[in-house]
Amino acid sequence: MKSIVILISGRGSNMQALLEAQLPCRIAAVISNRANAEGLNIAKARGIATAVVEHRDYADRDSFDAALAKTIDACHPDFVALAGFMRILTAGFVERYRGKLVNIHPSLLPAYSGLNTHARALHDGVRIHGCTVHFVTPDLDHGPIIVQAAVPVLCHDDERTLAARVLHEEHRIYPQAIRWLCADQIELNEQGRVTFRYHQQSGFALISPGLE
Ligand code: GRF
Repeated sequence: MKSIVILISGRGSNMQALLEAQLPCRIAAVISNRANAEGLNIAKARGIATAVVEHRDYADRDSFDAALAKTIDACHPDFVALAGFMRILTAGFVERYRGKLVNIHPSLLPAYSGLNTHARALHDGVRIHGCTVHFVTPDLDHGPIIVQAAVPVLCHDDERTLAARVLHEEHRIYPQAIRWLCADQIELNEQGRVTFRYHQQSGFALISPGLE
């Protein structure tokens, strides 16, 4: 059976979705760069091994990433899932886990990479927003896309309501992406594209606002 390590920095709701999804893999550990990440308690309560590699204990990104990699590698995971892990990783770290490192981002990439995605989407007046699971490459938030979910932006949305609608979909697509990975249904090919061995094509359009 494949195994994964999940990296978090805070609340850990995506991690929780992965823990609750009964994935066909072992969750080898949950690792946080912050000792007070709420998600650590959720993982512990479910009997999952946890570890903390405090970024503040390291002088620079290279030494933090080296310590993080050591902690990850001790678990021998097949995949590493970033779930609200709020540190920018060095190119060396990312290359070490090529094809094994995935992230969930709260926007329809390549739109709104970086932070404050919901506020920026609202500011721009887009009618459709969403979330993306992608392989991580050194190009921040621009790695090959595995799966995306789109949601409508409604007239009275504020950051909180829009974030909640997107988060609901994050909790659906991230477990699916990990399931595909663990079942060898997808991989990152030499050309840096995601190849699917099998996937169901669906032909629905999301039109927002809806047509009369
Ligand atoms: C999520 O919106 C995720 O897409 C982003 O950070 C947030 C983490 O939330 N990368 P949680 O810790 O999973 O609840």
